[in-house]
Amino acid sequence: MIKGSSCNMFYFRCVLFILFFAFSLDKVDLLENGMALTPPMGWMSWGYYMCSTKCEEDEDKCLDEKLILSVADSFYNEGYQEAGYEYIIIDDCWSERQRDENDRLVPDKRRFPRGMKFLADYIHAKGLKFGIYTNIANVTCMRYPGSYSHLDIDAQTFAEWGVDYLKVDGCFVTEDYLNVGYIELGHALNRTGRPMVYSCSWPYYIEYIHNNKPNYTEISKYCNMWRNYHDVQTSWDAILGIIQHYRSRYKELAPHHGPGHWNDPDMLIFGTGVLTHSQSRVHLAVLAMLSAPILLSCDMKKITPYEKKLLQNLDIIAVAQDPMGIMAQPYKLPDLWNGFVWVKPHLPKKGDQFPSYTFAFVNLDIDESEVSFTLSTYHLNNTDGYTVLDVFTGQFIRNVTYYETFEVTVPGVDVIMYTLYPL
Ligand code: GLA
Repeated sequence: MIKGSSCNMFYFRCVLFILFFAFSLDKVDLLENGMALTPPMGWMSWGYYMCSTKCEEDEDKCLDEKLILSVADSFYNEGYQEAGYEYIIIDDCWSERQRDENDRLVPDKRRFPRGMKFLADYIHAKGLKFGIYTNIANVTCMRYPGSYSHLDIDAQTFAEWGVDYLKVDGCFVTEDYLNVGYIELGHALNRTGRPMVYSCSWPYYIEYIHNNKPNYTEISKYCNMWRNYHDVQTSWDAILGIIQHYRSRYKELAPHHGPGHWNDPDMLIFGTGVLTHSQSRVHLAVLAMLSAPILLSCDMKKITPYEKKLLQNLDIIAVAQDPMGIMAQPYKLPDLWNGFVWVKPHLPKKGDQFPSYTFAFVNLDIDESEVSFTLSTYHLNNTDGYTVLDVFTGQFIRNVTYYETFEVTVPGVDVIMYTLYPL
């Protein structure tokens, strides 16, 4: 009798243990999905194509299968893939207006006649990755079907299609649901067993729609990346707004930023004809310094040769994709009254102590500035000094000691970007 009850107790504990284990697996944080260990690079449709569904009216600006295949071809054939551009992401407006009889999302039959699995297969065959979009409300921001009350079936559908990256918007829901829906959808993605980069807009909606303070500690536990500011527009002013936002919020954002969890300042606006050469240098330099995702959004044919050269500059990409993933710190310099120097430690390190550093002197004034500074002020203290590379020209400048005064001339509305490797 006594023996029997201890045996029952043993089985009871086993069952409890198994239930507990199964339950906690379900709750695994998304950061353990092993994705986005460096900030994702690629292309996303929204910035330029938005909801371009009227293909008969404008063949050149049409969100369809042909467009997505052409981006994959251009990544594969034109050197982008080798430089690190990998994800091809379809934003809003890709589906039919109604789910099918099994309650599944259906790609627009006219624009995506061979479906999403076909696109994913094509993209994967080139060694690239495929992304798609949904919203946690019952409709997307453009009022296509959303994933509310369909979290598992949609996660499963995306997994079956071979999706590697899911952008999840947060229009049209309450603040309470934002705080629940993103976590639940994350668990639904985990349950599929297919790792997908989980890109959230959670903090943006908390702050700008519900006027509250985002809890980045919580958000960074569940999302691989998150939007926290307004949509980028195709204008230099929009870029200035984003730079200003990240500069003023550095202390709030930087602690939550790193491998597997990134702040997302939205897409690059290259290929849209609005930036001068020096503005495009500033735009790309700031994203690279922030360790931000670099997502193009344009007709790939419209990228100018100059922009292409910048996008494929491996010295910039090395800064952007550094495995330490540290967000550069902005410092005010007296000589740069309308601008900042952004300072970022990164690999390679000399021993344990001395990382390399990149300095980006961003001058937003129209006049040039003479800047002078001492490396030790920014914690560079390798007594053997540093060798200096001009990131945009690829030229060696000279060697410097950590205590000497270093002078740089920064042209108006431009950036000088130097990487310093410890000697
Ligand atoms: C929101 C997002 C954009 C884009 C659109 C799609 O505005 O912030 O990036 O996804 O929705 O409707």
